[in-house]
Amino acid sequence: LIRTTVFSCANIIAKGRCNCIISTLPTRPALAMSSVSVPPPKCLQKTFVAPRRHMFGPGPSNVPPRILAAGAEPVIGHMHPEMLEIMSDIKSGIQYAFQTENNMTIAVSGTGHTAMECAIFNAVEPGEGVLTAVNGIWGERAAEMAERIGAKVNSIVTTAGGYFTSEEIDQALAKHKPVLFFLTHGESSTGVVHPLDGIGDICHKHNCLFLVDCVASMGGAPLYMDKQGIDILYSGSQKVLNAPPGTAPISFSERHFLMKVFNRKTKPVSFFLDMTWLANYWGCDGKPARIYHHTAPVSAFYALRESLAILAEQGLENSWQRHREVAEYLHEGVENMGLKLFVKDKNARLPTVTTIVAPPGYDWKEITSYIMKNHNLEISGGLGPSVGQVLRVGLMGGNSSKASVDMVLEALRDALRYCHKSKV
Ligand SMILES: *Cc1c(COP(=O)(O)O)cnc(C)c1O
Ligand SMILES: *[C@@H]1O[C@H](CO)[C@@H](O)[C@H](O)[C@H]1NC(C)=O
Ligand SMILES: *[C@@H]1O[C@H](CO)[C@@H](O)[C@H](O)[C@H]1NC(C)=O
Repeated sequence: LIRTTVFSCANIIAKGRCNCIISTLPTRPALAMSSVSVPPPKCLQKTFVAPRRHMFGPGPSNVPPRILAAGAEPVIGHMHPEMLEIMSDIKSGIQYAFQTENNMTIAVSGTGHTAMECAIFNAVEPGEGVLTAVNGIWGERAAEMAERIGAKVNSIVTTAGGYFTSEEIDQALAKHKPVLFFLTHGESSTGVVHPLDGIGDICHKHNCLFLVDCVASMGGAPLYMDKQGIDILYSGSQKVLNAPPGTAPISFSERHFLMKVFNRKTKPVSFFLDMTWLANYWGCDGKPARIYHHTAPVSAFYALRESLAILAEQGLENSWQRHREVAEYLHEGVENMGLKLFVKDKNARLPTVTTIVAPPGYDWKEITSYIMKNHNLEISGGLGPSVGQVLRVGLMGGNSSKASVDMVLEALRDALRYCHKSKV
């Protein structure tokens, strides 16, 4: 019967006499009249409220109210003059955070992985050689990305928790002659901060570009893009910057990279990540007209701008120093509890993400879930080569404080007591 009514109405509409619709529809159940076969989901009728948590893992970190508020401002057009000004502010903020004067400095729309692909896709063509330094998961990921675009990839590998000497890097570059060398500054899977001094010069001696991942270290450990001869540097928004995930700072040196971009034989495999387009969209190429490339994540850029403003207010050097002092306070507390730090060399300990040797006799997953359940606090286990070996504590940006350390230590002490008892 219902079906008949629909059909007859449709006939009437087709004949241009549809005055029956208003009078007929209300007498029928709404769903029965619907043309959609998938009903509105019941779960979406519930209001969502995000839990309040202490985000003391390797990221994302807690977002301060000031940054959340910036992200909640009204959306404007992605090409409006005010938005272009915000992008220009972001560019200046990244130049400060990276310590670079590169014009080609932008934030890509996406997470750290997007910036990673942006760097590799723009710097390497199929068939070219890439060398990655693997002392954790990020060198492995970079190798995988380069392989996917048909690069010839070689890696130097060291144990999780270790790093490479300049001699080892020099020898590997001489042997493999790559066009790009990838190194992670802050290895968040193992808790290692890699020395950078001198490596840029070694790369350039071998006619090779120097690409550095500073997603987990920027703002938390000393880093000087220009002085250290880094050709491509990228980071992320949700670690030390305390902005929501989804935007990623990146910068390309004029000296080496512009040559590469404008002398390519093939276009980068990704239109979305093509730097010739992005450079124009961000006003970095000196051309008067800025052409629509994609719709920038407007709210995410507001938040990113605010996070960079906070870093600039605090001062990079103060931020570096605070992260180091807080990390040392954490290291001391951990060792006083009878636990061991995973990175033996004190100077190689990453100030933002600390790796603790997984306590023997315990199930690390039980510890992290106990702490989440009873302390509403996130710390995490290992990742990639460090899985099962470590617990990871990330104290980044606003949460790099002694108060956070005290909370983490208290939670760990409690977990060790409880998790141990449950085993005996
Ligand atoms: C978190 C992290 C990434 C990946 O960033 P996403 O935003 O998760 O894509 C890359 N490198 C390092 C060193 C990281 O810590
Ligand atoms: C962690 O950061 C959040 C957001 O800025 C802040 O509200 C909270 O007080 C910080 N906690 C500690 C212990 O530093
Ligand atoms: C970088 O930008 C500045 C300021 O707009 C300009 O003076 C300089 O020539 C630019 N450098 C290059 C290499 O484009």
